[in-house]
Amino acid sequence: MARRHLVRAAVGVAAAATSLVVAAPATATSGAGSPGLGDPYFPLAGNGGYDVRHYSLDLDYVRATNFLDASTTITARATQDLRRFNLDLRGFTVSRVTVNRLPATFTRDGQELVVTPRVPLRRGKTFVVKVEYKGEPTEVIDPDGSSEGWVPTADGAFVVNEPQGSPGWYPANDNPRDKATYDMAITVPKGITAIGNGRLLSKRDRGGKTTWRWYEDSPMAPYLATATNGVFELRVSKAGRIPLYHAVDPAEVAEGAFDRLAAEAEIIAFFSDLYGPYPFSSGGGVVDHAPEVGYALESQTKSQYDSTPSAGTVVHEISHQWFGNSVSLTVWPDIWLNEGFASFSEWIYDERHGGPTAQASFDQVYARPATSSIWTRPPTNVGGPQFMFSGTVYDRGAATLQALRVKVGDRTFFRILREWYADNRNGNVTTADFVRLAEKRSGQQLDAFFDTWLYQPAKPTTW
Ligand code: TRP
Ligand code: ZN
Repeated sequence: MARRHLVRAAVGVAAAATSLVVAAPATATSGAGSPGLGDPYFPLAGNGGYDVRHYSLDLDYVRATNFLDASTTITARATQDLRRFNLDLRGFTVSRVTVNRLPATFTRDGQELVVTPRVPLRRGKTFVVKVEYKGEPTEVIDPDGSSEGWVPTADGAFVVNEPQGSPGWYPANDNPRDKATYDMAITVPKGITAIGNGRLLSKRDRGGKTTWRWYEDSPMAPYLATATNGVFELRVSKAGRIPLYHAVDPAEVAEGAFDRLAAEAEIIAFFSDLYGPYPFSSGGGVVDHAPEVGYALESQTKSQYDSTPSAGTVVHEISHQWFGNSVSLTVWPDIWLNEGFASFSEWIYDERHGGPTAQASFDQVYARPATSSIWTRPPTNVGGPQFMFSGTVYDRGAATLQALRVKVGDRTFFRILREWYADNRNGNVTTADFVRLAEKRSGQQLDAFFDTWLYQPAKPTTW
């Protein structure tokens, strides 16, 4: 499913960092889908030539042996004639690949699974590819040294994939530009709970195992999929009309994890009011005991916490459901569109709940000396994927929005945020799109403002 916005020239010096590299025409004419989508940080993530509509994941995992026996069925539409195409998959033994039920030949090349269907695919046609694979999931180590993907825990696995963990457990068109719906059947030993995205359809016991079926009916970027499993206490409640699923590892129950998650209903109501209706048909959160992971992730409808989160972290992850998950970036160097918006969301939540004003939070960030890396590294050009989640993206990103708020006034500012969401729901955006919207709504010329805040490697002084 794709709603692709063209990446238009971004303002300022970092424009090159956010432009897409288009697949070489030579590969397109030879009928092979390109092996990557040319993301400036992860050029091989995602593939060209098709557009995924739906993933059906069938996973059987045993923690004792750390063994995953799985098959993934992908429904996609060819966007060009395809003699062969790629999926992203790391590790595992692939036993069989079919395309439209006919056996296909395949080769492995790093993170690329190269599939040659028996019958070439015609542009515009829908096709179904099924990949059967098994083995020990490979841990994906990020450029910043953190681990992601299928991360084994004491009693299961903590499954988080931003930005490139998904191919560590399922074959994907691993790029946020290609969103799709998902269903998952996760089979685990009896007594283990497995939590996927979306709504719980059923839970069935058979032969000492339990299969949990989940369905996410809104388009989802591959990195937001999850299948976290382990010993959990699962509680189902409601936020308005949508079901909320809260799963907590027994080790974290005593830490007050359920109380933290209980705040979600009010947080969802708050942001629905401020930004527009909650994007998805379910919600919730999973508090695992995996402190070695060291971060939380806003997996679609089920934020993942490696341990009991702070109240602010819950607010942060919930706000990502609007900004990051529904309104998604197009290229990873625009990560401030996720993290800056989520950090600003924490600030405005505090302001409207008797805490410090967003301006006070801004003032604290602004007080940092000019030598701080939040000023020397601009949010849109942090210096490489190893700095994707560094302070500038969060704090200077949020400060950019608060500075904009002051510049255009509250009425216009919140209109901009509401429209940003309304116009781009389930879509993909760029920084240039945001600048354009802010200019349109405010009637102000804002190139210099955004250049100072987002592109210059220096502390803004006037804006
Ligand atoms: N997006 C996460 C957040 O809510 C942070 C995150 C995802 C992260 N993957 C990471 C942080 C890897 C450090 C390393 O902010
Ligand atoms: Zn975040």
